[in-house]
Amino acid sequence: MKATTILKKYFPPPATVLDAGARDGSTSERLRAAGYNVTSIDIESKSPDVIEVPIEEYEGVHDAVVARLLVHQLKGSLSENLDLLASHVRSGGVLYFTNFGEGDSWFKESADAWLKDRKVLYKELHVHTRPTYAGDMKEWKVWEYLVEIK
Ligand SMILES: C[S@@+](CC[C@H](N)C(=O)[O-])C[C@H]1O[C@@H](n2cnc3c(N)ncnc32)[C@H](O)[C@@H]1O
Repeated sequence: MKATTILKKYFPPPATVLDAGARDGSTSERLRAAGYNVTSIDIESKSPDVIEVPIEEYEGVHDAVVARLLVHQLKGSLSENLDLLASHVRSGGVLYFTNFGEGDSWFKESADAWLKDRKVLYKELHVHTRPTYAGDMKEWKVWEYLVEIK
């Protein structure tokens, strides 16, 4: 997956970006290097550059929100979680997110219903065999989306 490449192509800098669920901040770093003004948040910060706050309590609004491998970890339904992320995007901005695809053990729900009346700028399914954090090999199926927020 390549959040920075996709954002640069469809929504080039300068722009403010919220990296939600930033973990160690590595995606944030790539976005900063590409010229974005990035705020990084995570429920459990693993870097001094990542603010420790859950997305549910965060109050800022940005030109773009990046949420890589986050929606399946939030408490609501997929639609509720996407509404929450979109509420942090200004009108005319974009939401980049990934969602596990059908057949992946993390798959919960398709994003298609939520996307139905929205302008999808980019959509692609990635299937690859890679190790999990635990080290065992797994076939990952991950949808990647960039959506305009009205
Ligand atoms: C699977 S990791 C993905 C990390 C990173 N975005 C990436 O692509 O490598 C999901 C991250 O979301 C964070 N997270 C989970 N619930 C969250 C919440 N409610 N608000 C903010 N971050 C959350 C976790 O702590 C974890 O770092």
